[in-house]
Amino acid sequence: MVSDDEIQRAAAILREGGLVAFPTETVYGLGANALDAEAVRKIFVLKGRPSTSPLIVHVVSIDAAKELAAKWPAKAEELARRFWPGPLTIVVPKRPIVPDVVTAGLDSVGLRVPRHDVALRLLAAAGVPLAAPSANRFTQVSPTRAAHVREAFGTDALMILDGGPCEVGLESTVVAVRGDEVEVLRPGMARIEAPAWNTVAAGAHLSPGLHPRHYSPRTPVLLVRNAALPAGLGVYLSLGLKANARIIPMPSDPAAYAARLYDALHEADHAGADFIAVEAVPEGSEWAAIRDRLTRAAF
Ligand code: TXA
Ligand code: MG
Repeated sequence: MVSDDEIQRAAAILREGGLVAFPTETVYGLGANALDAEAVRKIFVLKGRPSTSPLIVHVVSIDAAKELAAKWPAKAEELARRFWPGPLTIVVPKRPIVPDVVTAGLDSVGLRVPRHDVALRLLAAAGVPLAAPSANRFTQVSPTRAAHVREAFGTDALMILDGGPCEVGLESTVVAVRGDEVEVLRPGMARIEAPAWNTVAAGAHLSPGLHPRHYSPRTPVLLVRNAALPAGLGVYLSLGLKANARIIPMPSDPAAYAARLYDALHEADHAGADFIAVEAVPEGSEWAAIRDRLTRAAF
């Protein structure tokens, strides 16, 4: 439980230009006042994130989103009504009030209303939109527990609101809306029927900041079929197959798998193994976001 007192202290830090880590339904975010360029710069410094990678701006409502958008097409309204609060980021043209540092100089901004009580209370208390990438160091595994954030950044300098484990467990689906057209820039657990995103194989960077290597533990990750593991000490994220390695059993339901994945990767990374092997997940669109993250983790 996060007390109202903690929320008020966190909101004060944000209004004064500081950073706060907070839970969302997807992953934990490292937040700053999105309208304060100096505050947002601190995010890039702490994460070690290149300034070419735009941040997602979290807002409390559709109305708050519209205040930051230069255009709000009917399609954006439709998607927002269908998925917000929830794991969908909508990229639309930005208003000048959104500093360039937030959007990496792009004239568009990614917006979302998170579906988490603590995030929504924090947004309401701060009274400002919050720019927040995942609260991990650049290219590492995103945090789905407060302990993962603590491990990445330590507690002394950074206030971390502990809202328990994240329910969705993978970063939001990112879509760009241009007029009537919707394009998926990053797959997520909110499934949108729209043209395909950039795949790792294609190598294109339709969504700036979507690096092929991302979400990676320090231990090498390999995707394997039929439990074909290399020699050495390994950890195996298994959907049921047995192997000569420490097994971390993974759920066979995609939503449960997604919720468990980053925690399992953090856990496997602590085992001091030579490799983390991951049993290939099934084909099918309900596994697409998971396949995307696994491919990048293994890149
Ligand atoms: O679930 C999430 O989205 C989490 C939580 C904290 O909300 N946040 C998150 O942020 O994953 P981050 O910074 O790790 O990912 C942001 C990604 C960028 O790398 C980029 O791919 C896309 O969102 N993005 C943001 N703004 C964009 C823009 N204006 N145009 C295109 N892509 C954008
Ligand atoms: Mg991230």
